[in-house]
Amino acid sequence: MSSLEQARTDLPARPFIDYRDGQLMVEGVSAAELARAHGTPLFVYSQAVMLDALAAYQRGFAGRQALICYAMKANSTLAVLRTFVQAGCGLDIVSGGELERALRAGVEPAKVIFSGVGKTRAEMRLALEAGIGCFNVESLPELDVLSEVAADMGLRAPVSLRVNPDVDAKTHPYISTGLKGNKFGIAHTDALAAYRHAAALPGLKVTGIDCHIGSQITETSPYLDAMDRVLDLVDAIEAGGITLEHIDFGGGLGINYHGETPPAADALWQLLLAKLDARGYGQRKLVIEPGRSLIGNAGICLTEAVFLKPGEQKNFLIVDAAMNDLPRPAMYEAYHAIVPVQPREANGEIQSWDVVGPVCESGDWLGRDRQLAVQAGDLLAVCSAGAYCMSMSSNYNSRGRAAEVLVDGDQARLVRARESVEDQLRLESI
Ligand code: LLP
Repeated sequence: MSSLEQARTDLPARPFIDYRDGQLMVEGVSAAELARAHGTPLFVYSQAVMLDALAAYQRGFAGRQALICYAMKANSTLAVLRTFVQAGCGLDIVSGGELERALRAGVEPAKVIFSGVGKTRAEMRLALEAGIGCFNVESLPELDVLSEVAADMGLRAPVSLRVNPDVDAKTHPYISTGLKGNKFGIAHTDALAAYRHAAALPGLKVTGIDCHIGSQITETSPYLDAMDRVLDLVDAIEAGGITLEHIDFGGGLGINYHGETPPAADALWQLLLAKLDARGYGQRKLVIEPGRSLIGNAGICLTEAVFLKPGEQKNFLIVDAAMNDLPRPAMYEAYHAIVPVQPREANGEIQSWDVVGPVCESGDWLGRDRQLAVQAGDLLAVCSAGAYCMSMSSNYNSRGRAAEVLVDGDQARLVRARESVEDQLRLESI
Protein backbone atom coordinates (compact mmCIF):
# COMPACT_ATOMS: atom_id res chain seq x y z
CA MET A 1 0.00 0.00 0.00
CA SER A 2 1.38 3.45 -0.83
CA SER A 3 1.75 6.09 1.83
CA LEU A 4 -1.26 7.94 0.37
CA GLU A 5 -3.44 4.82 0.21
CA GLN A 6 -2.57 3.98 3.79
CA ALA A 7 -3.41 7.53 4.92
CA ARG A 8 -6.76 7.43 3.11
CA THR A 9 -7.83 4.27 4.92
CA ASP A 10 -7.12 6.02 8.23
CA LEU A 11 -9.38 9.02 7.53
CA PRO A 12 -12.64 8.82 9.49
CA ALA A 13 -14.53 11.74 7.88
CA ARG A 14 -14.30 11.04 4.16
CA PRO A 15 -15.44 12.36 1.73
CA PHE A 16 -15.52 15.80 3.43
CA ILE A 17 -12.00 15.47 4.82
CA ASP A 18 -10.01 13.61 2.16
CA TYR A 19 -7.04 13.77 -0.21
CA ARG A 20 -7.20 15.47 -3.56
CA ASP A 21 -4.14 15.52 -5.85
CA GLY A 22 -2.03 14.21 -2.99
CA GLN A 23 -3.12 17.02 -0.62
CA LEU A 24 -5.31 16.75 2.45
CA MET A 25 -8.40 18.87 1.90
CA VAL A 26 -11.07 19.96 4.37
CA GLU A 27 -14.04 20.30 2.03
CA GLY A 28 -12.69 22.66 -0.66
CA VAL A 29 -9.80 24.07 1.36
CA SER A 30 -6.20 22.81 1.43
CA ALA A 31 -5.04 21.91 4.94
CA ALA A 32 -1.47 22.94 4.06
CA GLU A 33 -2.69 26.40 2.98
CA LEU A 34 -4.51 26.82 6.29
CA ALA A 35 -1.41 25.82 8.25
CA ARG A 36 0.67 28.30 6.23
CA ALA A 37 -1.84 31.10 6.81
CA HIS A 38 -2.55 30.52 10.51
CA GLY A 39 0.36 28.47 11.88
CA THR A 40 0.24 25.23 13.87
CA PRO A 41 -1.12 23.66 15.97
CA LEU A 42 -4.39 24.55 14.27
CA PHE A 43 -7.83 23.04 14.70
CA VAL A 44 -9.86 22.92 11.51
CA TYR A 45 -13.55 22.01 11.50
CA SER A 46 -15.72 21.03 8.55
CA GLN A 47 -19.20 22.49 8.74
CA ALA A 48 -20.42 19.88 6.26
CA VAL A 49 -19.38 17.04 8.59
CA MET A 50 -21.16 18.74 11.50
CA LEU A 51 -24.38 19.27 9.58
CA ASP A 52 -24.21 15.78 8.09
CA ALA A 53 -23.95 14.28 11.58
CA LEU A 54 -26.86 16.43 12.77
CA ALA A 55 -28.94 15.45 9.74
CA ALA A 56 -28.74 11.79 10.79
CA TYR A 57 -30.42 12.65 14.09
CA GLN A 58 -32.95 14.91 12.37
CA ARG A 59 -33.86 12.10 9.97
CA GLY A 60 -34.18 9.73 12.90
CA PHE A 61 -36.66 12.05 14.63
CA ALA A 62 -38.69 13.06 11.57
CA GLY A 63 -42.35 13.37 12.51
CA ARG A 64 -41.63 13.35 16.27
CA GLN A 65 -41.53 16.09 18.86
CA ALA A 66 -37.83 16.11 19.58
CA LEU A 67 -35.27 18.66 20.70
CA ILE A 68 -31.60 17.98 19.99
CA CYS A 69 -29.58 19.81 22.64
CA TYR A 70 -25.94 19.74 21.50
CA ALA A 71 -23.79 18.96 24.59
CA MET A 72 -21.49 21.94 24.24
CA LYS A 73 -18.83 20.57 26.58
CA ALA A 74 -17.64 18.59 23.56
CA ASN A 75 -16.65 21.80 21.79
CA SER A 76 -17.89 25.15 23.04
CA THR A 77 -16.30 27.43 20.43
CA LEU A 78 -18.84 30.14 19.58
CA ALA A 79 -18.78 29.51 15.82
CA VAL A 80 -19.40 25.78 16.41
CA LEU A 81 -22.32 26.60 18.71
CA ARG A 82 -23.73 29.06 16.18
CA THR A 83 -23.65 26.42 13.45
CA PHE A 84 -25.75 24.01 15.51
CA VAL A 85 -28.05 26.72 16.89
CA GLN A 86 -28.78 28.00 13.38
CA ALA A 87 -29.57 24.45 12.34
CA GLY A 88 -32.26 24.33 15.06
CA CYS A 89 -30.44 22.76 18.01
CA GLY A 90 -30.81 23.63 21.64
CA LEU A 91 -27.79 23.34 23.93
CA ASP A 92 -26.93 21.19 26.94
CA ILE A 93 -24.83 23.24 29.37
CA VAL A 94 -23.00 22.36 32.58
CA SER A 95 -21.76 25.68 33.97
CA GLY A 96 -22.38 29.41 34.17
CA GLY A 97 -19.58 29.87 31.64
CA GLU A 98 -21.31 27.57 29.17
CA LEU A 99 -24.58 29.45 29.75
CA GLU A 100 -22.91 32.74 28.82
CA ARG A 101 -21.37 31.20 25.70
CA ALA A 102 -24.70 29.63 24.76
CA LEU A 103 -26.50 32.96 25.01
CA ARG A 104 -23.79 34.74 23.01
CA ALA A 105 -24.13 32.11 20.32
CA GLY A 106 -27.76 33.19 20.05
CA VAL A 107 -29.55 30.11 21.39
CA GLU A 108 -33.18 30.49 22.44
CA PRO A 109 -32.97 30.21 26.26
CA ALA A 110 -36.00 27.91 26.31
CA LYS A 111 -33.92 25.41 24.30
CA VAL A 112 -31.18 25.26 26.96
CA ILE A 113 -30.97 22.43 29.47
CA PHE A 114 -28.62 22.61 32.44
CA SER A 115 -26.92 19.34 33.48
CA GLY A 116 -24.24 18.61 36.06
CA VAL A 117 -23.90 17.43 39.66
CA GLY A 118 -22.60 20.63 41.25
CA LYS A 119 -24.56 23.68 40.13
CA THR A 120 -23.94 26.64 42.43
CA ARG A 121 -26.65 29.03 43.64
CA ALA A 122 -25.12 31.76 41.48
CA GLU A 123 -25.32 29.52 38.40
CA MET A 124 -28.91 28.57 39.22
CA ARG A 125 -29.84 32.25 39.50
CA LEU A 126 -28.20 33.13 36.17
CA ALA A 127 -30.00 30.29 34.43
CA LEU A 128 -33.36 31.23 35.98
CA GLU A 129 -32.87 34.87 34.94
CA ALA A 130 -32.10 33.72 31.40
CA GLY A 131 -35.24 31.56 31.36
CA ILE A 132 -33.69 28.24 30.40
CA GLY A 133 -35.89 25.31 29.44
CA CYS A 134 -34.98 22.79 32.13
CA PHE A 135 -32.60 21.96 34.97
CA ASN A 136 -31.47 18.33 34.98
CA VAL A 137 -31.17 17.77 38.72
CA GLU A 138 -28.86 15.08 40.07
CA SER A 139 -29.48 14.92 43.86
CA LEU A 140 -31.96 15.69 46.65
CA PRO A 141 -29.89 18.56 48.10
CA GLU A 142 -29.77 20.11 44.64
CA LEU A 143 -33.59 19.93 44.45
CA ASP A 144 -33.89 21.73 47.79
CA VAL A 145 -31.41 24.47 46.94
CA LEU A 146 -32.84 25.05 43.46
CA SER A 147 -36.35 25.35 44.92
CA GLU A 148 -35.11 27.87 47.46
CA VAL A 149 -33.28 29.96 44.86
CA ALA A 150 -36.25 29.98 42.47
CA ALA A 151 -38.80 30.72 45.19
CA ASP A 152 -36.64 33.68 46.33
CA MET A 153 -36.88 35.04 42.79
CA GLY A 154 -40.64 34.44 42.72
CA LEU A 155 -40.18 31.69 40.12
CA ARG A 156 -40.66 27.97 39.71
CA ALA A 157 -37.68 26.22 38.17
CA PRO A 158 -38.53 23.64 35.48
CA VAL A 159 -36.85 20.40 36.53
CA SER A 160 -36.15 16.99 35.22
CA LEU A 161 -34.48 14.42 37.48
CA ARG A 162 -31.48 12.65 36.10
CA VAL A 163 -31.92 9.04 37.07
CA ASN A 164 -29.14 6.55 37.12
CA PRO A 165 -30.47 3.47 35.31
CA ASP A 166 -27.57 1.26 36.45
CA VAL A 167 -26.70 -0.11 33.03
CA ASP A 168 -23.22 -0.73 31.69
CA ALA A 169 -22.46 1.52 28.71
CA LYS A 170 -19.46 -0.72 27.92
CA THR A 171 -17.10 2.17 27.44
CA HIS A 172 -13.97 3.57 29.14
CA PRO A 173 -14.51 3.66 32.95
CA TYR A 174 -13.75 7.42 33.11
CA ILE A 175 -16.60 8.17 30.71
CA SER A 176 -19.13 5.62 31.90
CA THR A 177 -21.75 7.43 33.96
CA GLY A 178 -24.84 5.23 34.32
CA LEU A 179 -23.59 2.64 36.82
CA LYS A 180 -24.39 2.52 40.55
CA GLY A 181 -20.79 3.31 41.42
CA ASN A 182 -20.79 6.60 39.43
CA LYS A 183 -21.34 10.01 41.00
CA PHE A 184 -24.11 10.83 38.54
CA GLY A 185 -27.86 10.84 38.83
CA ILE A 186 -30.39 9.70 41.39
CA ALA A 187 -30.38 5.95 42.01
CA HIS A 188 -33.15 4.10 40.19
CA THR A 189 -34.50 2.80 43.51
CA ASP A 190 -34.69 6.32 45.00
CA ALA A 191 -36.17 8.03 41.97
CA LEU A 192 -39.85 7.71 42.83
CA ALA A 193 -39.38 9.22 46.29
CA ALA A 194 -37.25 11.99 44.77
CA TYR A 195 -40.05 12.83 42.32
CA ARG A 196 -42.59 13.04 45.18
CA HIS A 197 -40.19 15.30 47.06
CA ALA A 198 -39.65 17.54 44.01
CA ALA A 199 -43.37 17.82 43.28
CA ALA A 200 -43.98 19.09 46.81
CA LEU A 201 -41.34 21.84 46.71
CA PRO A 202 -42.67 25.39 46.18
CA GLY A 203 -39.96 26.61 43.80
CA LEU A 204 -40.03 23.70 41.34
CA LYS A 205 -42.15 22.57 38.44
CA VAL A 206 -41.49 18.95 37.50
CA THR A 207 -41.40 18.71 33.73
CA GLY A 208 -39.36 15.67 32.75
CA ILE A 209 -37.01 12.80 33.35
CA ASP A 210 -33.43 12.45 32.16
CA CYS A 211 -30.67 9.87 31.92
CA HIS A 212 -27.20 9.73 30.40
CA ILE A 213 -25.24 6.50 30.65
CA GLY A 214 -21.82 7.35 29.28
CA SER A 215 -19.85 8.47 26.27
CA GLN A 216 -18.28 6.86 23.19
CA ILE A 217 -20.94 4.14 23.30
CA THR A 218 -20.61 1.91 20.25
CA GLU A 219 -23.33 -0.64 20.95
CA THR A 220 -27.09 -0.42 20.77
CA SER A 221 -28.00 -2.64 23.72
CA PRO A 222 -27.03 -0.22 26.55
CA TYR A 223 -29.40 2.37 25.06
CA LEU A 224 -32.25 -0.12 24.77
CA ASP A 225 -31.69 -1.32 28.35
CA ALA A 226 -31.51 2.23 29.73
CA MET A 227 -34.70 3.16 27.88
CA ASP A 228 -36.56 0.24 29.43
CA ARG A 229 -35.33 1.18 32.90
CA VAL A 230 -36.30 4.83 32.43
CA LEU A 231 -39.73 3.98 31.01
CA ASP A 232 -40.40 1.67 33.98
CA LEU A 233 -39.87 4.73 36.15
CA VAL A 234 -42.06 6.91 33.94
CA ASP A 235 -44.85 4.33 34.35
CA ALA A 236 -44.47 4.45 38.13
CA ILE A 237 -44.09 8.24 38.40
CA GLU A 238 -47.16 8.92 36.29
CA ALA A 239 -49.16 6.27 38.15
CA GLY A 240 -48.38 8.36 41.23
CA GLY A 241 -50.03 11.41 39.64
CA ILE A 242 -46.99 13.35 38.40
CA THR A 243 -47.05 14.07 34.67
CA LEU A 244 -43.84 14.26 32.69
CA GLU A 245 -43.87 16.51 29.64
CA HIS A 246 -40.61 15.25 28.23
CA ILE A 247 -38.17 12.35 28.37
CA ASP A 248 -34.47 13.08 27.93
CA PHE A 249 -32.26 10.16 26.86
CA GLY A 250 -28.92 11.96 27.15
CA GLY A 251 -26.07 11.66 24.66
CA GLY A 252 -23.17 9.29 24.40
CA LEU A 253 -23.24 7.87 20.89
CA GLY A 254 -19.70 7.00 19.84
CA ILE A 255 -17.75 7.76 16.68
CA ASN A 256 -15.21 5.96 14.52
CA TYR A 257 -11.73 6.82 15.80
CA HIS A 258 -10.03 3.58 14.83
CA GLY A 259 -12.40 1.20 13.13
CA GLU A 260 -15.19 1.35 15.69
CA THR A 261 -18.60 0.83 14.13
CA PRO A 262 -21.18 2.62 16.27
CA PRO A 263 -24.75 2.56 14.97
CA ALA A 264 -25.73 5.55 12.82
CA ALA A 265 -27.89 8.01 14.76
CA ASP A 266 -30.93 7.42 12.54
CA ALA A 267 -30.60 3.63 12.75
CA LEU A 268 -30.22 3.77 16.53
CA TRP A 269 -33.26 6.00 16.90
CA GLN A 270 -35.34 3.81 14.64
CA LEU A 271 -34.86 1.03 17.19
CA LEU A 272 -35.36 3.28 20.20
CA LEU A 273 -38.48 4.87 18.77
CA ALA A 274 -39.94 1.44 18.06
CA LYS A 275 -39.51 0.64 21.74
CA LEU A 276 -41.02 3.97 22.76
CA ASP A 277 -43.99 3.33 20.48
CA ALA A 278 -44.44 -0.18 21.83
CA ARG A 279 -44.53 1.18 25.35
CA GLY A 280 -46.97 3.95 24.49
CA TYR A 281 -44.59 6.94 24.74
CA GLY A 282 -43.99 7.54 21.05
CA GLN A 283 -45.71 10.92 21.02
CA ARG A 284 -44.03 12.25 24.16
CA LYS A 285 -41.66 15.19 23.72
CA LEU A 286 -38.11 13.83 23.48
CA VAL A 287 -34.86 15.53 24.32
CA ILE A 288 -31.36 14.23 23.59
CA GLU A 289 -27.92 15.59 24.47
CA PRO A 290 -25.38 14.40 21.87
CA GLY A 291 -21.91 15.94 21.89
CA ARG A 292 -19.13 13.83 20.39
CA SER A 293 -21.25 12.30 17.62
CA LEU A 294 -22.06 15.78 16.25
CA ILE A 295 -18.58 17.30 16.24
CA GLY A 296 -15.93 14.63 16.88
CA ASN A 297 -15.14 13.66 13.32
CA ALA A 298 -15.67 17.18 11.98
CA GLY A 299 -12.34 18.35 13.38
CA ILE A 300 -8.67 17.76 12.69
CA CYS A 301 -5.66 19.28 14.41
CA LEU A 302 -2.83 20.28 12.10
CA THR A 303 0.64 20.01 13.57
CA GLU A 304 4.20 20.30 12.24
CA ALA A 305 6.94 17.74 12.74
CA VAL A 306 9.64 19.59 14.70
CA PHE A 307 12.34 16.91 15.14
CA LEU A 308 12.83 13.27 14.31
CA LYS A 309 14.49 11.40 17.14
CA PRO A 310 15.16 7.78 16.18
CA GLY A 311 16.19 5.61 19.10
CA GLU A 312 17.28 2.12 20.06
CA GLN A 313 13.86 1.04 21.34
CA LYS A 314 11.55 3.66 19.87
CA ASN A 315 11.54 6.31 17.21
CA PHE A 316 10.10 9.57 18.45
CA LEU A 317 8.47 12.04 16.13
CA ILE A 318 8.27 15.32 18.03
CA VAL A 319 5.48 17.59 16.80
CA ASP A 320 4.34 21.07 17.84
CA ALA A 321 0.96 19.93 19.22
CA ALA A 322 0.92 18.39 22.68
CA MET A 323 -1.18 16.99 25.51
CA ASN A 324 -2.32 20.50 26.38
CA ASP A 325 -3.97 20.73 22.92
CA LEU A 326 -5.03 17.08 22.58
CA PRO A 327 -5.40 15.66 26.10
CA ARG A 328 -7.36 12.51 25.23
CA PRO A 329 -4.42 10.12 24.61
CA ALA A 330 -2.78 11.13 27.92
CA MET A 331 -6.06 10.96 29.86
CA TYR A 332 -7.77 7.91 28.38
CA GLU A 333 -5.08 6.32 26.21
CA ALA A 334 -7.40 7.34 23.40
CA TYR A 335 -6.54 6.62 19.76
CA HIS A 336 -6.62 9.40 17.18
CA ALA A 337 -5.57 8.60 13.61
CA ILE A 338 -2.55 10.68 12.53
CA VAL A 339 -2.06 11.22 8.81
CA PRO A 340 0.36 13.22 6.66
CA VAL A 341 -1.08 16.38 5.09
CA GLN A 342 1.01 15.79 1.93
CA PRO A 343 1.90 12.07 1.88
CA ARG A 344 5.41 11.39 0.58
CA GLU A 345 5.79 9.29 -2.54
CA ALA A 346 8.75 7.17 -1.39
CA ASN A 347 7.19 4.32 0.53
CA GLY A 348 10.54 2.96 1.65
CA GLU A 349 10.66 5.74 4.18
CA ILE A 350 7.71 4.40 6.17
CA GLN A 351 8.84 3.78 9.73
CA SER A 352 7.21 3.25 13.07
CA TRP A 353 6.99 6.42 15.19
CA ASP A 354 5.69 7.44 18.58
CA VAL A 355 4.19 10.85 17.87
CA VAL A 356 4.85 13.02 20.91
CA GLY A 357 4.59 16.67 21.91
CA PRO A 358 7.12 19.01 23.50
CA VAL A 359 5.55 18.97 26.99
CA CYS A 360 7.84 17.73 29.77
CA GLU A 361 5.98 14.52 30.63
CA SER A 362 6.25 10.99 29.28
CA GLY A 363 2.44 11.04 29.17
CA ASP A 364 2.64 13.66 26.44
CA TRP A 365 2.04 11.41 23.46
CA LEU A 366 -0.49 11.71 20.66
CA GLY A 367 -0.05 8.33 18.98
CA ARG A 368 2.11 5.26 19.47
CA ASP A 369 3.71 2.98 16.89
CA ARG A 370 2.36 4.90 13.92
CA GLN A 371 3.55 3.92 10.45
CA LEU A 372 4.56 7.16 8.76
CA ALA A 373 6.93 8.41 6.08
CA VAL A 374 7.87 11.74 7.54
CA GLN A 375 10.61 14.36 7.72
CA ALA A 376 11.10 17.40 9.95
CA GLY A 377 8.93 20.27 8.73
CA ASP A 378 6.18 17.97 7.40
CA LEU A 379 2.60 18.68 8.36
CA LEU A 380 0.42 16.03 10.00
CA ALA A 381 -3.27 15.96 10.83
CA VAL A 382 -4.53 14.45 14.06
CA CYS A 383 -8.00 13.17 13.15
CA SER A 384 -11.29 12.98 15.07
CA ALA A 385 -10.19 16.05 17.02
CA GLY A 386 -13.48 17.97 17.00
CA ALA A 387 -14.76 16.76 20.38
CA TYR A 388 -13.14 17.03 23.80
CA CYS A 389 -9.87 18.42 22.46
CA MET A 390 -10.04 22.23 22.23
CA SER A 391 -12.66 22.29 25.02
CA MET A 392 -10.31 20.32 27.29
CA SER A 393 -7.13 22.13 26.25
CA SER A 394 -4.99 23.93 28.81
CA ASN A 395 -2.05 26.28 29.16
CA TYR A 396 0.22 23.61 30.65
CA ASN A 397 3.89 24.50 30.10
CA SER A 398 2.60 28.06 29.40
CA ARG A 399 1.63 26.99 25.91
CA GLY A 400 -0.96 29.21 24.27
CA ARG A 401 -4.16 27.59 23.10
CA ALA A 402 -4.30 26.75 19.39
CA ALA A 403 -6.20 28.75 16.79
CA GLU A 404 -9.38 27.41 15.17
CA VAL A 405 -10.73 27.61 11.65
CA LEU A 406 -14.21 26.73 10.42
CA VAL A 407 -14.52 25.58 6.81
CA ASP A 408 -17.69 25.82 4.76
CA GLY A 409 -17.25 24.66 1.16
CA ASP A 410 -14.28 26.58 -0.21
CA GLN A 411 -14.50 29.27 2.47
CA ALA A 412 -12.37 29.17 5.63
CA ARG A 413 -12.86 31.51 8.59
CA LEU A 414 -10.51 31.96 11.53
CA VAL A 415 -12.99 31.63 14.41
CA ARG A 416 -10.52 31.78 17.28
CA ALA A 417 -7.15 33.51 17.16
CA ARG A 418 -4.09 31.81 18.59
CA GLU A 419 -3.66 32.67 22.27
CA SER A 420 -0.58 34.83 22.89
CA VAL A 421 1.64 34.89 25.96
CA GLU A 422 0.14 38.33 26.69
CA ASP A 423 -3.34 36.76 26.70
CA GLN A 424 -2.13 34.20 29.21
CA LEU A 425 -0.51 36.76 31.53
CA ARG A 426 -3.31 39.32 31.47
CA LEU A 427 -5.02 38.16 34.67
CA GLU A 428 -1.87 37.77 36.76
CA SER A 429 0.12 40.10 38.97
CA ILE A 430 3.20 39.68 41.12
N1 LLP B 1 -25.04 14.82 28.61
C1 LLP B 1 -24.38 14.69 29.76
C2 LLP B 1 -25.08 14.85 31.02
C3 LLP B 1 -23.00 14.40 29.74
O1 LLP B 1 -22.35 14.26 30.89
C4 LLP B 1 -22.34 14.26 28.49
C5 LLP B 1 -20.90 13.97 28.44
C6 LLP B 1 -23.08 14.42 27.32
C7 LLP B 1 -24.44 14.69 27.41
C8 LLP B 1 -22.48 14.30 25.95
O2 LLP B 1 -21.96 13.03 25.73
P1 LLP B 1 -21.39 12.63 24.28
O3 LLP B 1 -22.55 12.58 23.32
O4 LLP B 1 -20.41 13.67 23.89
O5 LLP B 1 -20.77 11.33 24.49
N2 LLP B 1 -13.89 13.93 27.84
C9 LLP B 1 -14.35 12.61 27.52
C10 LLP B 1 -15.86 12.56 27.38
C11 LLP B 1 -16.60 13.04 28.60
C12 LLP B 1 -18.09 13.00 28.45
C13 LLP B 1 -18.75 13.68 29.57
N3 LLP B 1 -20.17 13.80 29.48
C14 LLP B 1 -13.65 12.14 26.26
O6 LLP B 1 -12.85 12.87 25.71
O7 LLP B 1 -13.85 11.01 25.81
